Amino acid sequence: MKRFKAAILTLSDKGARGERIDESGPALAAWLAGNGVKTVRTLILPDQFDLITEVLVDWSNRALAELILTTGGTGLSPRDVTPEATESVVERLVPGLAELMRLCSLDKTPMAALSRAVVGIRRNSLIVNLPGSPKAALENIAAIWPAIDHGIAKMCGDPEDCARQFSW
Ligand code: MTE
Repeated sequence: MKRFKAAILTLSDKGARGERIDESGPALAAWLAGNGVKTVRTLILPDQFDLITEVLVDWSNRALAELILTTGGTGLSPRDVTPEATESVVERLVPGLAELMRLCSLDKTPMAALSRAVVGIRRNSLIVNLPGSPKAALENIAAIWPAIDHGIAKMCGDPEDCARQFSW
């Protein structure tokens, strides 16, 4: 098992109203479990800015999980506000991870350019926006996974020289 924990926030108006089954949250939790990470909390919310910020602040302030994944609400629809909500609560952006997700996703579909996902840090939580479909969410988390372990260790204060850990 990895040393860090995860929490998953699904953003979907229909999902929150019970009109659509959330497949992305469970798919992400199963994928994380397969990669040695325990998911300690999952929640579905509507695409509502104030509700999203409230939960992200609460989870990160309580140090619920070092990795917080959101899924949904990153596109161009008028109700898509996950990136704006995330940007408003993070203290530092990690643009390289968002760029890497889009770069790798362009191999899968040109629609990858339509995800406005951001990644950032609030306290000791790395908040990663993922698109809403299960397929897209898994492709995006897989794209950045090789950098996540080291990134979370550094975020949590690992003082080790990077050059000592990686020779490339
Ligand atoms: N990224 C990957 N890897 N695979 C996909 O199928 N779908 C795209 C994009 N990113 C996709 C992807 C599509 S169709 C959209 S509209 C945007 O993510 C935003 O998705 P969201 O509004 O569900 O967050």
